Amino acid sequence: MEAKDSKRKVILTGDRPTGKLHLGHYVGSLQRRVELQNSGKFDEINILVADDQALTDNWDHPDKIRDNIIEVALDYLSIGIDPDKTSICIQSGIPALHALTFYYMNLVTTQRLSRNPTVKNEMTLRGYSDSEGINDNTAGLPAGFFTYPVSQAADISAFRATTVPAGEDQEPMIEQTREICRKFNTTYHCDVLVEPEILLPENESQRRLPGIDGKAKMSKSLGNCIYLSDDSKSVKQKVMSMYTDPEHINISDPGHVEGNMVFTYLDAFCREDQFATYLPEYQNLDEMKEHYRKGGLGDVKCKKFLIRVMEELLSPIRAERAKWEKNIPDVYDILLTGTEHARQTTNETLNAVRHAMRIDYFDDRASMIRDWENWIAH
Ligand code: TRP
Repeated sequence: MEAKDSKRKVILTGDRPTGKLHLGHYVGSLQRRVELQNSGKFDEINILVADDQALTDNWDHPDKIRDNIIEVALDYLSIGIDPDKTSICIQSGIPALHALTFYYMNLVTTQRLSRNPTVKNEMTLRGYSDSEGINDNTAGLPAGFFTYPVSQAADISAFRATTVPAGEDQEPMIEQTREICRKFNTTYHCDVLVEPEILLPENESQRRLPGIDGKAKMSKSLGNCIYLSDDSKSVKQKVMSMYTDPEHINISDPGHVEGNMVFTYLDAFCREDQFATYLPEYQNLDEMKEHYRKGGLGDVKCKKFLIRVMEELLSPIRAERAKWEKNIPDVYDILLTGTEHARQTTNETLNAVRHAMRIDYFDDRASMIRDWENWIAH
C-alpha cells in the first residue's frame, strides 16, 4: 500500500438493519456522525449497513433485514448524512469482506471468541448461556453468530479505517479487530492492516438514552422508543405517557428530577433559547428543575414543553424523510454508488492481504510460473 495511505484518516461505522432508528441512536451516535462528517477532518467516511451481521441472528427472517435496509437508509439521509460526503454501503454487496473473514478466522481461537464480552452478553440475551456467562453453552451457538466479531474485524480493516465512532458496547469488537490486525501483520511480516481506534461519545450523558418508561435503555424489544420517523401525534402520546416521578402526585408536591424521564430528555435535547420561546417563566433548565423540586410545577406543563422541544428536533427530520420517501430511486442509487465504491476500496485491501499471504497466484503470471518452475527443478 502506498505511503500516503498511512496518513489518511478514515471513518467506518455501521448499524444492523433490524429496525428503524430511534432517539437513542440519535443521541448515542447519529448526531455525532453528522458532526464528524461536517468537521472536514476526515479523508473518507463510510457507513456500513451491516445486513450480513444482522443475518447472523436473523437468518430465518431475511425479509425483515431487506425491509429495514431502506428504513435505516432513510433515517441516515433525513438526519443530515450527506451522500456527497459520506458513503453508505451494504455489507452483503461487498465480497471482499467475506473473503477477509475467512482468512482472519485462522488467526482467532474459539476460546478468544467466547471471551468477547459483547458476544457473551448477546448469548445471555438469546438464552444461550446463564446470566453470569460462566457456563457458556457455545456448543448450541450457530457458528455464524459466534464468529461475527471476526467479520466485524474484516469490515473495519477492509476499509483501512483509522477511526470507528461507536458506543462502549463496541469496545470489545474494536479490541478484537486490533488483535487480528496485529496478528496478521506479524504472521505475514507486513504492515498491510491498520489498527483502528474507537471514538467514544464525548460526554457521559450522551452515551445512553433511557426509554420513555424509565428503563435503562431505549430499545425496540422493550417497546419504549421514540423513533426518528414517528409522526407528531405519536411523539405527543409517547411524551404524555412518559415515566416521571411516582411520588409527585399533586402539583404542589415536591418532585424528583433524577430518574424522571421528562427531565432526562430535557437534559439531552433542550436548548436555553427554547425557554424564551416556549416557557418564558424560566430562564433555563436549572430554574425549571428547581421549581419542580420545590413543588408547584405539574408534569403536564413539563411534558408540553418537552413536546415542543421534540417537535423542533424531529419535524425537520420528518420533512427530509418525506422528501426521500418520494424518491426511492435516488436512495437506491446512493446505496449502489456507496456499495460500488466500497467494493473497490475493500478489494484493494483484499489484494494486499492475498499478496502478503502469498496466495496471489494469478496477479503476476510470469513470476508465478517462474516460482513454480524453480520449485519443480530443484
Ligand atoms: N456491531 C455493530 C452493531 O451491532 C454494527 C457493525 C457492523 C459495525 N460492522 C461494523 C459498527 C463496523 C462499527 C464498525 O451496531
